[in-house]
Amino acid sequence: MLDIEYPILSAGMGPNLLGEETGAPVELVVAVSEAGGLGVLGASGYSIDELRQSIREIKEKTDKPYGVDLLLPKNLAGADELAGAGAADIPLSDILKTLPREYQDWIAKMRDDLGLAEVEIIVKSDNTTMRPKEAVQVCLEEKIPLFCSGLGNPGWMVEDAHANGVKVLAITGNTKNAKRMADAGIDLLVAQGHEAGGHTGRIGTMALVPPCIDAAYPVPVLAAGGIADGRGLAGALAMGCVGVWVGTRFLATTEGGAPDSIKQNIVEASDEDTRVSTMFTGKTLRSIYSRFHDAWNASGLEPLPFPMQIMISSTLLRAFIDQNIGDYIGGFAGQASALIHEIKPAGEVLADMVEQAADILTKKLPESVTVK
Ligand SMILES: Cc1cc2nc3c(=O)[nH]c(=O)nc-3n(C[C@H](O)[C@H](O)[C@H](O)COP(=O)(O)O)c2cc1C
Repeated sequence: MLDIEYPILSAGMGPNLLGEETGAPVELVVAVSEAGGLGVLGASGYSIDELRQSIREIKEKTDKPYGVDLLLPKNLAGADELAGAGAADIPLSDILKTLPREYQDWIAKMRDDLGLAEVEIIVKSDNTTMRPKEAVQVCLEEKIPLFCSGLGNPGWMVEDAHANGVKVLAITGNTKNAKRMADAGIDLLVAQGHEAGGHTGRIGTMALVPPCIDAAYPVPVLAAGGIADGRGLAGALAMGCVGVWVGTRFLATTEGGAPDSIKQNIVEASDEDTRVSTMFTGKTLRSIYSRFHDAWNASGLEPLPFPMQIMISSTLLRAFIDQNIGDYIGGFAGQASALIHEIKPAGEVLADMVEQAADILTKKLPESVTVK
């Protein structure tokens, strides 16, 4: 369907909360696609112009298929107002002043306790997440091979996508939405389990994938969450998936977009070193444990609804990074961090996964499994 050699997609990974670097930049997309998989651009924090430029850059650097991942709202009601409301760039300090008193007090206490400087961040309004219709339009005009919807049901854009030769992938964390998305006419579904880095649901990959395959049939399913080597790939294929969608392993590569310190955190993390928390965005999100988790838990505050909570975490995270307060940074990553022991080029990661999976499926399993 995708005209690729190996059934491995590098996951769309958006920018950190500050909108600075995307986790899955052009370099990673090109490296994965050139190696025979399919690289997906994490474009959720890009401006509309950056989105178009990045797509064109990918096209210049590779003639292999690739994808673009955006976060779409649940439905389009409100998208126009969002776009209108975000007509101007807004200083974050202005937004923070509108928060309930107890949140402002907590931010002030954190700054006092840790000696944090007050750094200004400009919240960009010309952003693909604030302007989903325009962002989708760019993807269709550029005739990208695969559109990936990281949030929400992309059913509303499937017909237009198909008319432009664009295939559509959606991501689910439960069986109910697998069915809804498949019924909406998508081409591919990712079933992403609780183990995953970034926003994540409640159901583990092993329990999620088989019922999603049943519910989405005949739409093919890719497994995600906790997959970082050929064993995960072989397991996903054995469960009936057509391939895998891999985030954390590709983030911790030479071309992955995370800062070096976060890649190092991933290499050092054990399987017990990640946490799911709502403190970053207001939605459940898995990241490497840091003292920021402890501070938030001790605050006794309820998270604000998405995306307002991002304003709180962004202002503090900016200061942690600028002042190099490493034990408060962590980084978005999944439980598969425990399987990652070195930073290496994405092409090598992909080749190793293929080799290990092929070895398991063609040699080890036939030798060890006796069917009576
Ligand atoms: C740093 C990071 C950023 C992410 N950002 C996005 C995003 O912008 N859009 C999206 O659809 N998924 C995002 N995800 C989730 C991934 O697409 C993917 O589902 C997940 O990483 C798979 O689990 P794994 O990390 O165990 O491989 C992100 C994940 C990470 C680790």
